[in-house]
Amino acid sequence: MFFNGEESRLRSLLEKLDSGVKLYREEFACLMSAEPSVLNAVASDMAGDIARRTFGRRVFLRGLIEISSFCKNDCLYCGLRASNKDAQRYRLSREEILERCEAGYELGLRTFVLQGGEDLALTDEWVADVVREIKKRFAGVAVTLSLGERDKVSYRRFKDAGADRYLLRHETYNAEHYARLHPQTMSRDARVACLHTLKRLGFQTGAGMMIGSPGQTPATLADDLMFLQELRPEMVGIGPFIPAHGTPFEHEPKGSVERTLSLISVVRIMFPRANIPATTALATLDAKGREKGIMAGANVLMPNISPKEQRAKYSIYDNKANTGLESIEGLEELKERLAAIDYTVDWGRGDCLDPR
Ligand code: 5AD
Repeated sequence: MFFNGEESRLRSLLEKLDSGVKLYREEFACLMSAEPSVLNAVASDMAGDIARRTFGRRVFLRGLIEISSFCKNDCLYCGLRASNKDAQRYRLSREEILERCEAGYELGLRTFVLQGGEDLALTDEWVADVVREIKKRFAGVAVTLSLGERDKVSYRRFKDAGADRYLLRHETYNAEHYARLHPQTMSRDARVACLHTLKRLGFQTGAGMMIGSPGQTPATLADDLMFLQELRPEMVGIGPFIPAHGTPFEHEPKGSVERTLSLISVVRIMFPRANIPATTALATLDAKGREKGIMAGANVLMPNISPKEQRAKYSIYDNKANTGLESIEGLEELKERLAAIDYTVDWGRGDCLDPR
């Protein structure tokens, strides 16, 4: 095959990553400065092959339960931000959560993700009790929490209750960029400290970032990749930024699908065994987003199993997909769509013990 100069340079950087060599910041910046279509031409097949070598042509399913739309934070991008008066707020009860787990368990799901805003009413004791009850009632399931920043004592309680994994995207590693996306009460350092704590406590830990958030540049993406390279997260969530009504960023342009796919591929090449979802945000912007994500190296889908009547209220961005394929009612169609790209569902727990 013939490659021009840029392609061969990109390829040699990706091959370095593939062989386990760490890249310098300038090298990541070089990857991130390439046109996404050019980078994808090289990275996508490599990353897809790596994912298939690790997982076969299979994807893990996680049942996503959005347990509260209350949030004390005021992140500038998020529709659930505290000062968004238009946001509809709800909180699921213990029984509602357990009922959704039961329905999911019967369908074969073996991971439940409890996600919510930073809701002060979700006390440590309450969360720990729900986790304990899920682990007791549903043998062999993994529980993932995604409830934002808490202190070490709280995280430890969750771990002791049996929680296996914790998702906390870092959003951006660049401190100035972080400050542009978040209120002054939040900081990049606090976010990163939480991620290190989660790792130390033994959670399978998920980091990740939005692609195309206001102020993001190839340089800030290079910072993200440097951070991921050091953190070695077991999971990485990568989705496009989508403007949300009632937020300061409501008129900002949305992130690019192509660029999102390029980041999925680069992260897959870095971490051949990490769990990487094809995100709802990706599926929201592109009708074939799930398939494209999987072909680019993702190996996880997270269908929504929240109570139907609450789903539209968990509106972190506009037009968030919450029915059809993005929900559990769409399971049969989801399987058909996977079959069309010659993939199937893997009904295992899908733990990651070491991303590389
Ligand atoms: N567009 C895309 N993703 C968003 N998130 C929050 N708001 C938006 C938005 N407007 C993502 C954040 C958060 C995850 C739960 O959802 O990355 O960590």
